[in-house]
Amino acid sequence: MSCYSNGFCRDKNIVCRLLFSKARLPKPFISLHANITTVHMKIIAIQGSPRKNGNTDLVLDAFLSGAGDLGAECEKIYLRDIEFKNCRGCNACHKTGDCVIKDALTELFAKVLKADILVLASPIYSMTVTAEMKGFIDRGQFLWAQKFLTKTLEFDDRHLATHTGVFISTSGQDLPTIFDAARPVVKAFFNDSGFVYRENVLFPGMDKKSQSERDEAAAFASGEGRRIANALITLKGNV
Ligand SMILES: Cc1cc2nc3c(=O)[nH]c(=O)nc-3n(C[C@H](O)[C@H](O)[C@H](O)COP(=O)(O)O)c2cc1C
Repeated sequence: MSCYSNGFCRDKNIVCRLLFSKARLPKPFISLHANITTVHMKIIAIQGSPRKNGNTDLVLDAFLSGAGDLGAECEKIYLRDIEFKNCRGCNACHKTGDCVIKDALTELFAKVLKADILVLASPIYSMTVTAEMKGFIDRGQFLWAQKFLTKTLEFDDRHLATHTGVFISTSGQDLPTIFDAARPVVKAFFNDSGFVYRENVLFPGMDKKSQSERDEAAAFASGEGRRIANALITLKGNV
């Protein structure tokens, strides 16, 4: 994980390092102007914080605004605003590939599968993602079943090259390991839904930040939104 002097972290996994290695770094924004109008990009952001206008919203909104500057169509969904049930563990999806529960998540999962960038945003609660986010991820078990059991869902290399998973998180504590338990949780969902978990945009110690530090956090998140959208525009143009 590389941490900047401003205390925010940008972390890329190995796949990301390979994909965005120097040779493939996107050209500067200005020279991408033609791509902005020709490459359509949809970003779905799943917001798992139960607190509206809190720390996670601050950085998530800035991220989406930065990506929006490059022409990305962005949609944010608050899990707290939609009614859904938790996975029952009935394992029916292991046989049919379908979830027996039909509720707001049924439609949302269909939408997620059509996005180019999936953002999973959650504050750290008790060392991992919130209950809302975990509930959402558990309900994605039918996708895992379709991939590995019924074999009715497959993502080819081209799809994986142009579908990026981004984890955005905030925490109260400023510990180097504070996001560690959350990462495998979001990775599980990215894997099952056809997104390569390429990016982390993480903000530790948010509860004690001054207003100017919060402004810096938002500016950093906005820059990350632009950078990640820019990278995907380039990838989509190249694949
Ligand atoms: C129930 C609860 C549990 C929390 N657990 C942790 C924790 O384990 N570690 C930590 O660093 N912060 C923890 N926090 C602090 C939040 O992660 C932090 O305030 C976060 O930025 C809140 O984001 P939000 O304003 O978007 O909800 C917790 C907060 C709450 C309400």
